[in-house]
Amino acid sequence: MLKAIQSFTEYQEAYQKSIDTPELFWDEVAATFHWKKKWTNTLLWNFSEPKIEWFGGGTLNITENCLDRHQTTRKDQTAILWEPNDPKDAVRRVSYGELFTMVQQFANVLLSLGVKKGDRVCIYMPMVPEAAVAMLACARVGAIHSVVFAGFSSQSLADRITDAECKVLLTADSMTRGEKKIDLKGIADAAMAASPTIESCVVYQHKGTDILMQEGRDYYWHHLMEKANASHTAVEMESEDPLFILYTSGSTGKPKGVLHTIAGYMVYAAYTFKNVFQYQDGDVFCCTADIGWVTGHSYIVYGPLLNGATTLMFEGIPSWPDAGRFWSVIEKHKVNIFYTAPTAIRSLEVFGTEPFVGKDLSSLKVLGSVGEPINEEAWHWYHENAGKGRCPIVDTWWQTETGGIMISPLANITPLKPAFATLPLPGVQLAIMDEKGTEIHGNGVEGNLCIKFPWPGMSRTIYGDHERFHQTYFSAYANHYFTGDGCKRDEDGYIRITGRVDDVINVSGHRIGTGEVEDAINEHGYVVESAVVGYPHDIKGQGIWAFVICDREHHSYEELCNEAKAHVTKVIGPFARPDRIQVVKALPKTRSGKIMRRILRKIAEGDTSNLGDTSTLIDPTVVDAIKAGADMIR
Ligand code: WT7
Repeated sequence: MLKAIQSFTEYQEAYQKSIDTPELFWDEVAATFHWKKKWTNTLLWNFSEPKIEWFGGGTLNITENCLDRHQTTRKDQTAILWEPNDPKDAVRRVSYGELFTMVQQFANVLLSLGVKKGDRVCIYMPMVPEAAVAMLACARVGAIHSVVFAGFSSQSLADRITDAECKVLLTADSMTRGEKKIDLKGIADAAMAASPTIESCVVYQHKGTDILMQEGRDYYWHHLMEKANASHTAVEMESEDPLFILYTSGSTGKPKGVLHTIAGYMVYAAYTFKNVFQYQDGDVFCCTADIGWVTGHSYIVYGPLLNGATTLMFEGIPSWPDAGRFWSVIEKHKVNIFYTAPTAIRSLEVFGTEPFVGKDLSSLKVLGSVGEPINEEAWHWYHENAGKGRCPIVDTWWQTETGGIMISPLANITPLKPAFATLPLPGVQLAIMDEKGTEIHGNGVEGNLCIKFPWPGMSRTIYGDHERFHQTYFSAYANHYFTGDGCKRDEDGYIRITGRVDDVINVSGHRIGTGEVEDAINEHGYVVESAVVGYPHDIKGQGIWAFVICDREHHSYEELCNEAKAHVTKVIGPFARPDRIQVVKALPKTRSGKIMRRILRKIAEGDTSNLGDTSTLIDPTVVDAIKAGADMIR
């Protein structure tokens, strides 16, 4: 098993080693796993195509590392501890032994549905242990899972199914988040009607709601499981075979299917989990993300299970039945490590400290933050109230594309600085670049964040579009992976992430491309054109501000707003619903027809003192009109 770094000196030594002899460094980490055949070629790479191969020649199955190898030591230990949405409902404890059986059975179910190595399986499920079973069963038979967050609309689901040509869809009857009921099977039906590649659909009966089942296509999970054999030998996979696809938003175009491969992702997810959180045997680890995002993949499912940890899966939301829910969950399950998002913290800050009264949080050892920059105020509030001033906060910076945490303190090892992600993990070679594309060395600098050497967890391609992979991440700076984020490196060499420098916005930790929202708004009959930007929002981090040109004068503003918002909800999902819609006569365009978003961003931010050079605009007077309009809806 993996051993964690124990001191800051050890971190510095590990870091140095990972740079001097990366292959040797990762060989030692990889050697702690179970391989069917040992690798022969630790790393082959170039960032120009790009081509990245880790642990070439090796064969393995990630589920043997998550499950089989724990059977002799942890059969009865809880693997997944499930806290339901409604605290009055029963908790579930799935042991490593039970999880192993469920995964083998469901692997056989997948085989019975004709799923073969390399096939894509879409998972659109609530936060229940069966979702993890579904992911692991795919990995066990060598199928590629594509989990779609169960807050996406049927259209978004259909787009993702179609892009990956998924053969099977795994879903549930319905689910509840807080008081909101979500008709998953109904959404899945609508998506399947538009997705010709789906041959079968397995429905996990979660709430027992009445649903339509299509003969010959739809099957109940429990019916298939009843008949399934409980033994399945994991399929032998190559290191670089795909493990999963996860869609994420970029600056332009449709969401991209970020692809991760087995061995590198496994090694990286496990290594970062162990070291960042300093997980010790017996600890209860709780990550509040959804399995539909990469955080859920790496730190609810794979990272914890690879380390034989007990992972708490929380179905609910922070604010229901009351704003003390997180703290109740921590008390109830004696959570030792708690990992959540700044947006959740800020939303709870509003309720003050009353929800903490009478709650015993003494089990907590480590707090984590992920998804967006955490502002100092939220950092201190979290530190003082949840951590009672004694738990470190690991502010973990990473991305869907990086597979695991890249910049973060190691809990109780790295000296902290509020709002700083601090230092790169071993194996992570950062480069801060200036506008001209040259690396800025030294401390006390600011620029765009790149990575100049491969790490095992990095994405290998965009599914079905390698050229886009190259274009998106490896073309801005030669031989560097460009993250899309800006950062500062202070006098101590500590990193502070300043946020995205592209047209990606981060709303309550949800990554959204402004172009996707524009496309959805533009589908509205009245809309001629739109431009969407992010603006600072107290709780969500960023809100969505849409500037819209309409083709009719006589409809009401109210009507347009409601319809446009409803349409975005329908096309993408409720989390992408614009906060503010401003009707404008014209957008600030350059002579070449490009919208100057920089100006719109400044206006939305309420910072119009210096709009920069507007001389290239066709009609600079539109700016004043937009400014005046913005003040009316702010
Ligand atoms: C973007 C990636 C990483 C899993 C969840 C989000 C922002 C993420 C931090 C942090 C500042 C952060 C970045 C990044 N981000 N973590 N600790 N501090 N910003 O994954 O949806 O792929 O989003 O989230 O802007 O590029 P994602």
